Amino acid sequence: MHPDATHAAARDRFNREWDRRLGVFHRYASPPWWYEGLTLTPELDYVYERFLPIAEYIHDLRRVVADTLPCRAWLPRVLLSPPYRSLPDFWRRLPRRFHSRVAWLPNDLDEIAVHLASPTVHGARFMRYPEQLPALVAYGLDRGLSTVRCFDFGCGTGQGTYEIAQCLDGRVESCLVIGMTIEPLEAWMASRGRLPNPQPRAGQPITIPYPRPELRSTTCIRFVAGDMLRATFRDAADIIVCNGVIGGPKLNHDADFRQLWTVVSTCLKDGGLLVIGEQFHDGHRLRAARFVALGGKLIRHQRTAGRSTFITVSRTT
Ligand SMILES: C[S@@+](CC[C@H](N)C(=O)[O-])C[C@H]1O[C@@H](n2cnc3c(N)ncnc32)[C@H](O)[C@@H]1O
Repeated sequence: MHPDATHAAARDRFNREWDRRLGVFHRYASPPWWYEGLTLTPELDYVYERFLPIAEYIHDLRRVVADTLPCRAWLPRVLLSPPYRSLPDFWRRLPRRFHSRVAWLPNDLDEIAVHLASPTVHGARFMRYPEQLPALVAYGLDRGLSTVRCFDFGCGTGQGTYEIAQCLDGRVESCLVIGMTIEPLEAWMASRGRLPNPQPRAGQPITIPYPRPELRSTTCIRFVAGDMLRATFRDAADIIVCNGVIGGPKLNHDADFRQLWTVVSTCLKDGGLLVIGEQFHDGHRLRAARFVALGGKLIRHQRTAGRSTFITVSRTT
């Protein structure tokens, strides 16, 4: 059978089975059923879990989502280790039109994938850390760098990366800015200057474009999918920017912090600039401070402005 037909058959089976289970839920579970705005209580989670266990649902969904993607490796990471307590907990992170549904058309599945890879609450934005841009230019000019190489770790859909490239563009002779994110779907959107459509209606595009700056030919911007904790590059960078990741929900253990310092010490030139931005609540902010504290002798100089910490790094090698 042609792979498309196999995928369509798997999707039909998935839809039939989960629609059947949703029907049983509606017949036997007493309302209130979840709707947007209703607080998710442990009781509500329990009722849904009895009929529609989220672990089983995501296990099945993973396969049909993977079938719609160009490559299985593009599967959003939340589908590999789901953080959801129940089906409503999953729905509330998706655009409204997906709420209270369990069965999907192929286009729905693509759309769900981009939203899971780049959730609106965590997504990248322009001008999140305005204090950083003049500091990056000043760093390049102060050191008389004609060429600046900058890595943007955890770049999301890339708005911050374009901003970095724009601020360096024309201020130094040439620059290369590489955005890296662990989600291949985000890297794909970033390279096209697109983000998930926040509240799409049926028939509307899954992703929408955002304005990208016009850059000179001497400014080069690239996006790669990869784990910054394992990053290796042929040439070290003058600047590494890492915004909205360190200390956040996905990177907050000491072991990860130590690993990131190892990466920084190899991927950043001696005297290079590490810039960390965070917009977290207090709990996560403390973890970001803990990362800095673990830098030890690698930190030559450090200062804070706004939500950003600027660290000059000494290489140990
Ligand atoms: C909150 S977003 C921040 C986006 C952007 N830097 C900003 O501040 O607007 C966090 C990003 O870090 C990425 N991320 C999380 N862990 C990562 C890792 N180990 N390696 C690379 N990217 C990672 C996520 O996929 C997401 O794109």
